[in-house]
This record gives sequence, structure tokens and C-alpha cells, in this order.
Amino acid sequence: MKEQLTSLYDNLIGKNEVEGLAFLAEQFPEEIVFSTSFGLEDQAITHLILANHLPISIFTLDTGRLFNETYSVWESTNERYGTHILPYYPQTGDIEKYVQANGPLSFYRSVALRKECCHIRKVEPLGRALSGKKVWVTGLRADQSNARKDLPILEWDDTYQLFKYNPILHWTFEQTQDFIKQHNIPYNVLHDKGFVSIGCAPCTRAIKAGEDFRAGRWWWESNSKKECGLHEHK
Ligand code: ADX
Ligand code: SF4
Repeated sequence: MKEQLTSLYDNLIGKNEVEGLAFLAEQFPEEIVFSTSFGLEDQAITHLILANHLPISIFTLDTGRLFNETYSVWESTNERYGTHILPYYPQTGDIEKYVQANGPLSFYRSVALRKECCHIRKVEPLGRALSGKKVWVTGLRADQSNARKDLPILEWDDTYQLFKYNPILHWTFEQTQDFIKQHNIPYNVLHDKGFVSIGCAPCTRAIKAGEDFRAGRWWWESNSKKECGLHEHK
């Protein structure tokens, strides 16, 4: 499958986001999925998919530790588009054992414990969500971080053995905001309170003017890559 990368990539050149999504949905019917965390970028992609009736299913990883505001935008998105975004949850036994052993706020104590929590609550459920799929659509943007600045629009993901498509990779944050406003798309109200990149509630804070885009994620960690393992690049 990996060998198809160049020809798929060539086919995407000159296509806009909707055309690109439609093309991949046609090439991989029932095997293309989009993961949303209900952030601004993901809301834009959800709109592109649902307003254009593209046959791409949408799922979210509900870690159990999300902000109430995130659940509100999930609800309003379901209502606005008449859809039911599919949630994936952590394995009950794993999370019970982990919290019993380490307590409910373990992630502040060490990077290793934090990564274990991310693994149980996000990475393992992601594996199930992507199992049997051939294309994973994400809302990654190049200017979100250094690790993301050189990503291609379409790449081969060795971990999950599928193509990863980042349709709005080259949009700026302002462009994303304008798109949301222009189409009156539901969005997380935390974005109006200084939150840019939003993950789990205990691990996300607002940023101040001039701070890095991802400075509000796992802010107490100074030496980690500030990734939860969903998008680790080797
Ligand atoms: S993270 O790796 O730091 O958590 P980030 O919040 O920047 O990722 O989101 C980047 C992309 O990862 C999103 O556009 C979305 O496709 C996916 N993603 C992140 N968190 C989730 C989640 N909880 N559920 C589904 N997809 C997610
Ligand atoms: Fe756990 Fe925080 Fe990772 Fe969420 S972001 S899974 S609460 S460590």
C-alpha cells in the first residue's frame, strides 16, 4: 500500500481541501476516518466533511478528562450537522489499575507517568479507531510547533500502517479562525479565553500574548516534546 504514496500525492497537487478529501474518500471507501478533538482546526475539517456530505466517518478520543466546554461543542456539532460523532474510550481495566496505583493527578509527577496516562487514554483507543483503516485525516497545522513545520500534506504512517492526510496543514491560525466565523461553525468557547491548543482539562491552560502555540499543553514539563504520542515522529 505504501508504494501508492507518490501517485496519491501527485493526485492531490492542485486540489483544494474538499477536493482532496473527496478524492481520498473515493479511493478508499469506508476506509477513511477523521479524528477530532473539537479544536478550531478540527471544527473546520468537520464542516468541510459534513457540509459537503463526504463519506468520511468522524471519531473522537474521549479521555474522560476533557473540559465541559469541549463536551458542549461536541453536542452543538452533533446538533448543527445532524450527526453522531463516534467516541472511543480507554479500556476500563487499564485506567482503573493506573489510577488506583498512581492517583488521579499522577501526570504532574513525572513525564513517564504522564505518557502512561496519555497512552491509556488516547494512544490505545486511537489504535482501535484506526484499525482496518487506510487513511487517517487530522487537523495538524505546520505552524503549531517545530515538530510539525515540515510535515507533508500526505504521509505514510509506519505506526498505524496507513496514509495520514493533513488537509489544512498550511492554514494559519487566523485563517482557521476566519473560516470558523465565516461559516458560523460551532467552536470551543475556551478559544475566546486564551486557549489555542486544547487537550485534557488538567493538562491544558490558556497562553499569554507572545507565548508559543503549544505552551499551554503539559506546561509544567520543560524537557519533553509536548506530544501525547498520537503524532510522534521517529
Ligand atoms: S496532541 O497530540 O497534542 O493531542 P493536538 O491537540 O495538537 O494533538 O491535535 C492534533 C490532531 O490530533 C487533531 O487535529 C486531531 O486530528 C487529533 N487529536 C488530538 N486529540 C484528539 C482527541 N482527543 N480525539 C481525536 N483526535 C484527536
Ligand atoms: Fe492524561 Fe493529561 Fe494525557 Fe489527558 S493529556 S491523557 S489527562 S496525561
